[in-house]
Amino acid sequence: MLTEAPASTLVSPLAKPLRGDATVPGDKSISHRAVLFSAMAQGTSHIAGILDSADVRSSIAAVEKLGAQVDLSRQEDESLAGTITGWGKEGPRSGEVTIDCGNSGTTARLLMGVLAPWDIDATITGDESLQKRPMRRITAPLMKMGVRFMPAGRETLPLTIHGTSQLRAITYDAPMASAQLKTAVLLAGVYAKGTTVLNEPSPSRNHTELMLPEYGITTTVARGAASVTGPAVPQACSIQVPGDPSSAAFLVCAAVLKRGSTLKIHNVSLNTARAGFVRTLERMGVDTSMDYQGSAGKEPYGTIRVKYCDSLRGCEIPAEKIASLVDEVPVLALVAAHAHGITVFREVSELRVKETDRLAAIVEGLEMVGVDAWIDGNDLYIEGQADFEIPDGVVFDSKNDHRLAMTWALLGLTGNNPVHITNFDSVKISYPHFLRDIERLTQ
Ligand code: S3P
Repeated sequence: MLTEAPASTLVSPLAKPLRGDATVPGDKSISHRAVLFSAMAQGTSHIAGILDSADVRSSIAAVEKLGAQVDLSRQEDESLAGTITGWGKEGPRSGEVTIDCGNSGTTARLLMGVLAPWDIDATITGDESLQKRPMRRITAPLMKMGVRFMPAGRETLPLTIHGTSQLRAITYDAPMASAQLKTAVLLAGVYAKGTTVLNEPSPSRNHTELMLPEYGITTTVARGAASVTGPAVPQACSIQVPGDPSSAAFLVCAAVLKRGSTLKIHNVSLNTARAGFVRTLERMGVDTSMDYQGSAGKEPYGTIRVKYCDSLRGCEIPAEKIASLVDEVPVLALVAAHAHGITVFREVSELRVKETDRLAAIVEGLEMVGVDAWIDGNDLYIEGQADFEIPDGVVFDSKNDHRLAMTWALLGLTGNNPVHITNFDSVKISYPHFLRDIERLTQ
């Protein structure tokens, strides 16, 4: 099914439907937070179910460089588990350091909040893609709290952060719904004197607000606002990371598109701030449900059940729901391409500044299979074409973006013809064994 070539990977149509029970690797957002918050904490935290991927490894390498003691090992289920002993009230290692965050926007942006309260200088950088991504959304509120960034006025990495032990608590109205921005401000707020409040235009993922209390930090969460009161030193705790809904989305959508499939994915985070794709698929006519099993800390998890759907219909996804499915827009766009009627994703300009310009990439990729997709203002439109055919020898450019690589792979797996994908290796960012897991479900 899979042939590796130096520049591109060939993905061929699945011979059989996807059936049975599956699990997916640990949630990427929660894994980053478990690593970073444990590094900030006083004492030794026990963390398990951590996603072993390139992005999370960037966070692990960063905290090790800053002085946290990391003792994590790979488990039978391919997750990482073990301990992190944090720097606590002593703070991170002093002296100048350079931290390379690779492709990981979450590492770079959250780290700015982690480092803000300390009188140290650290240079944060990343790969070519990360060096193009906007950082002003993080540096602007942190500067209001008293942090300085050099070179002054620069809006992209590399940036040197000069933290301060005299942080001011602020109330900040975020210009966009971004959990990375919210988290950076709240993490700085842990050490600021007073209450730091972050108001957001629509709800972004709330893993930080749910996890900080596990480390003894009081946070408040109301619709559209989150706050933390400092100064406080996070205390070590135990964290279990549930499966990643953003990875599960690829298995779910594979089942939706491959005739005869029926699938259950267990132990997945069912956090409503992440479950927008399931609700959207339901509205498109898919037989799917989420069954609650329990909670890991305050994070709910459970089973997603899904069946093949032969009568998908287009729908409109309103602006306030986009944050709950922001990473699933590419794969949902592929599902929409198979639907009857038009699907509209409202206000998705944030997709332009992900690992690559995902809006342009979706339009370009769907065009290659003759599906009409266009951007009007900040809205993405897809005119479904239930019976579209993949031409022979088509090559998709992943643009080194893990979610695009998996989206185009799904097109080949569930379509009539094989597809070539360049730099498919980028799946290592969030779901290294994606193709193997899909293959196993067709046995
Ligand atoms: C993330 C938040 C989202 C998401 C990213 C992970 C996080 O980004 O797209 O993959 O872990 O906080 P924004 O905060 O930029 O929306």
